[in-house]
Amino acid sequence: MSRDGAPPRARLAVLLSGRGSNFLALQAAIERGDLPARIVLVVSDQAEAPGLKAARELGLRAVALPRRGEPSREAHESKLLSALAEADVEWVCLAGYMRLLSASFVARYPRRMVNIHPSLLPAFPGLHAQAQAVEHGVKVSGCTVHLVDAGVDSGPIIVQRAVPVYDSDSPSELANRILQQEHKAYPEALRRLLAQRWEIVGRRVVFAAEKNL
Ligand code: GRF
Repeated sequence: MSRDGAPPRARLAVLLSGRGSNFLALQAAIERGDLPARIVLVVSDQAEAPGLKAARELGLRAVALPRRGEPSREAHESKLLSALAEADVEWVCLAGYMRLLSASFVARYPRRMVNIHPSLLPAFPGLHAQAQAVEHGVKVSGCTVHLVDAGVDSGPIIVQRAVPVYDSDSPSELANRILQQEHKAYPEALRRLLAQRWEIVGRRVVFAAEKNL
C-alpha cells in the first residue's frame, strides 16, 4: 500500500512498432482509474512509429531503439533491457511490437511480459492473423491477451474476446472489428493480473477473487 492507502501502481513499459492504438487504450484505462498502473516507458524499434509520437505528446518517456545499426539481436536486446532497467520497469506489455524476442530476453521478465494477438489463439498465430482467419473461413475470431513465453504467441492465455466473422469480410474489416475488442481486452487482462491473485496451473492462468482496488 502507498501512504494514501491506494495500491501501488505497477510500472509498465509498452513496446510497439506502429500505430499504438492498444498503447493508447492502456493509457486511457489508467487515466480513467481502471488500471492501477503507470506507463513509465514506451519503446519502439521504429523511430517513425505513430505510437511513439503519441506517447511523446502525452508527455511519457518514449525512446526509439531501431534494430538497424545494431550488430546483432543480442546487442539490440541488451540496449532494450538497459532501457527497461533504467526506467525500473516491472511489466513489459507488447502492443504490436513486430520483433521476436529471444528466450533469454523473455526469461528476464518471467510472468511479467504480456502480449495481445488478433486471433483466438491457438488459432492463427504469427503474422496476418486476421487474413488467416478470413482465408480459413472461420465463423468466429477475436483477440487474445497472453503471457509471453519463448514461443510465438504461445504463452498462457489471460483474456479472450470473440467477434463474428462475416462471409463478406475483408481482412481489414475483420481487423477493425477485432481491434475494438482488443482495446477492451488488454486493459481488462492487465487489471486482472494486477488486481487479483493468480497462478499458473498447467497452461492455465487461474485467478482468485478480485482484491479491493
Ligand atoms: C494489433 O492488432 C495487435 O493485436 C497486434 O498488432 C496490432 C497493433 O495495433 N499484435 P496497434 O499498434 O496497437 O494499433
